[in-house]
Amino acid sequence: MTFEEMKAQLIEQILQQQLITATISQPRMKSNDIKRIKLKPLMLKNTYHIQMEYQYERILKHENILLADFPARLEAFFENYRQAHIDFIDEKVHVQLSKKNKVLWKSDKAAAPKQVSLTHNRKKNYLLSDNQPYPFLIRLGVQTTEGKVKKQKYDKFKQINRFIEFIDDALAYLPQDRQVRILDFGSGKSYLTFALYHYLKIEKGLDIRVTGLDLKKEVIEECSQIAQDLGYDQLEFLVGDINDYNDESAVDMVVTLHACDVATDMALARAVKWGASVILSVPCCQHELNRQLHTPALDIMLQHGLVRERFAALATDAIRAEILSLVGYEAQLLEFIDMENTPKNILIRAYHTGKKPTTQQCANYEAFLKLLNATPFLANELKDYLE
Ligand SMILES: C[S@@+](CC[C@H](N)C(=O)[O-])C[C@H]1O[C@@H](n2cnc3c(N)ncnc32)[C@H](O)[C@@H]1O
Repeated sequence: MTFEEMKAQLIEQILQQQLITATISQPRMKSNDIKRIKLKPLMLKNTYHIQMEYQYERILKHENILLADFPARLEAFFENYRQAHIDFIDEKVHVQLSKKNKVLWKSDKAAAPKQVSLTHNRKKNYLLSDNQPYPFLIRLGVQTTEGKVKKQKYDKFKQINRFIEFIDDALAYLPQDRQVRILDFGSGKSYLTFALYHYLKIEKGLDIRVTGLDLKKEVIEECSQIAQDLGYDQLEFLVGDINDYNDESAVDMVVTLHACDVATDMALARAVKWGASVILSVPCCQHELNRQLHTPALDIMLQHGLVRERFAALATDAIRAEILSLVGYEAQLLEFIDMENTPKNILIRAYHTGKKPTTQQCANYEAFLKLLNATPFLANELKDYLE
């Protein structure tokens, strides 16, 4: 099969709406910012579209295009990438291109997936089902005793489900040969802490030990009681300040969900000091950088309180991700959940790799802090690591 025949064949199958999913990868140039592109079909306003998910080093971007516009895009993909895995309705295809576009085409009809879902808002298959009773969700007041999620708790239910999806994705980065130690900082009413325990320990049978830590004594006492009543013997709740929590020598995964302001930074710093393999953190309100910002070059933006607040929050999260990558993590900022559910919708995901930063990366970081004229809390907490 020639290069042109290969493209014509793929275009024909895609125009016939045979696509289920595809992944285009192996950039021809190292300098290519987009490392991978995922495709799937999508119905938007009753019209067939292809959704493209572009995976950059640290972020994902999405674009939906009309089917008629797809052939031109596919041409462009193969100018920049050399590999594609495509699941069609009746066959799986793997394409590998040489530098000179010699085509290796492999097709497997027996392994083909059979169904495709095109709706954007299709009923979500949550990892925790929304109509099955879970004892911990009933005790926490999220579900009725029949297993129905209460209307006023639906947003929280969606958040914990989404968070568990990220935890599920991170399992490969956790140790497989010993007990996994997990800390939830600023656990509050501990919906997430219970949910992750249930999912990892009860459903997946993993060997884990989980601690939820929070300042609020009464809430922690209540959570401890629930854990005890449910027989969750590897789940404990402690009253305490993240900053004073020095009881561990090593932790494998640190999670936070809406830990207020710099509590998120304290948790990230603790995680780095323990060398945690996985950090998943959805920050909350942000005041600390906002108070410090003094950047005349950005005054046109920062003179507006609302813009200043959002800028400070976004800059803080970008700096958090950058610091994590400077100290040996592969860090990404990902969309946690839709804005209608909560505006606090960025998740910091960091996997420990030990990779050293480039000189350019360090210089960019220094320059950004200089521009903001600020010293972020996390930079102070981790100054020994950043030097
Ligand atoms: C908005 S609540 C979120 C609770 C929970 N993670 C959730 O998503 O439902 C933030 C929690 O962080 C706790 N917190 C704030 N600063 C803390 C600190 N320095 N140490 C421990 N907990 C802290 C608060 O007490 C509060 O319960």
